[in-house]
Formats: sequence, structure tokens, C-alpha cells
Amino acid sequence: MADSKPLISGNWKMNCNHLEAIQLVQKLDFKLQSKDYDRVEICVHPPFTDLRSIQTLIDGDKMSLKLGAQNCSWFESGAYTGEVSPSMLAKLNVSYVIVGHSERRELFGETDEIVRKKLEAVLRHNMSPILCVGDTLEEYETEKTQDKVFFQIQSGLKGLSFEQLSKVVVAYEPIWAIGTGHNATPSQAQATCSFIRSIISDLGGSEAASVVRIQYGGSVRPGNAHDLLSQPDINGLLVGSASLDADSFAEIINFA
Ligand code: 13P
Repeated sequence: MADSKPLISGNWKMNCNHLEAIQLVQKLDFKLQSKDYDRVEICVHPPFTDLRSIQTLIDGDKMSLKLGAQNCSWFESGAYTGEVSPSMLAKLNVSYVIVGHSERRELFGETDEIVRKKLEAVLRHNMSPILCVGDTLEEYETEKTQDKVFFQIQSGLKGLSFEQLSKVVVAYEPIWAIGTGHNATPSQAQATCSFIRSIISDLGGSEAASVVRIQYGGSVRPGNAHDLLSQPDINGLLVGSASLDADSFAEIINFA
């Protein structure tokens, strides 16, 4: 079991222009107290176009909120039209970068190889990758969840040093639970998160397995956050649509 604070992350996906983003963060920070930040690490992942505005807001108002990105290139710079490099994100004080979200894997063709390159690029710039893994409904129904997750964790993390592993966060997001309103039950989520921790232990040793935080994501709401977070191998939540509402996101944080 990981020993640091739980990490509650809001993945805004392709929502909120920079003005809406500023309003949402101001409202969220207003609802949170310093004791919340003492207990929980809280991070928002707005779209790229909002990052500079939110960084300025966090700095100016001395907020304890962390800034995250949803994706990045594995290239450092150059002729890669439309890409955003990890050094550009690091310069904006981005702490966490989501890599391998199922929407990027399924809709934009990101392979395990690409996800690995992105994860290494994020680590090179001293940020923490949030490596997303998860099973499709078909894999779940045919009891292939462990096979799928095993392969994704192996290809994402094999060969990393202890120092690198200790910066990694893993998010288990069953694809069948994303945006459906049907979350995995706490015991289902715990079983897979515990399995993920055992793979990390085999790859990097028990100490590495104890420091890697594992989040659950997929239809997290204020009503299920507490039970999910009570599971021993769930050290945080990756929240999609409920993070777009300051009241719901703050309520989820209160359960952590
Ligand atoms: P929802 O919380 O909207 O199901 O999205 C989960 C997710 O994909 C977070 O990355």
C-alpha cells in the first residue's frame, strides 16, 4: 500500500475554454480549505489551451492545487505539427501528465509503445506520469481483465529504476465504467488494483510497489468516492465528468 497522500485528479477532457477554466478553478479553490490540501493532493488536468491561464491563477493566488496535462509528445522539439512537448509542460509547472488514457488508445491509435515513449518523456522532465490502463467490456465479460492489465503495466513500466517508478502513478480505468454511470464496485476495483500492485512488485520490488499510487477512474461520483477510496490498494481517483462541477469535485475530495 502506498504511503503518501491520496491523489484526486480531475481529467477535464475536451471541456472548458480558458475563461471557463478560470471560473471553475476559482470556484473549486473557494470550496477547499487548507486542511483538504493537507490530507489530499489535488490536481486538475485542463486542455492545453487553458494551462497558462490556470498556472497564472495558481501562482497569483498561491493555491496549493496542482496542475496536470492530459497528454504530451515524446519528442523534445522540432517539426511535429500539432504536438506539445514535455519541456513546454514542465515550464508551466505541470506536475502530472496523463499517458495512455483509453480515449487516446481507442480513438487516436496510441499503442503500448507510444504510451511507453510518452511515459519516459514525462519522467525525463521530472514530472509524474499517470499511466492509464483498463479493460474493455468484452475483455471484462470474457475474464480477460488481468491479461490486458498485465500487458499494459509490463509494457509501461518494465525496466524502470526505483527512482523512476516512485514518480509513477497508475490509474485503473475500466473502459466499461468510463462515462457510463456504472462504476466498478469497490471490491472489483480493489481486486484489479491489488493485482496491478503485485505486477509492480514483480517488476521493481516490494518497496517500489508500496510507493506507486494507484488510482481508480470510471464514473466516480460523490456517492461512491468514499467506498472506492476505503479499499487498501486504491490511493486516489481519476475523475472525469464529476470534476467539471466544483461542488461535486469538492465533495469527492472531502471523502478522501
Ligand atoms: P468519467 O468520470 O466521466 O467516467 O471519466 C473517467 C475518466 O475517463 C477519467 O480519466
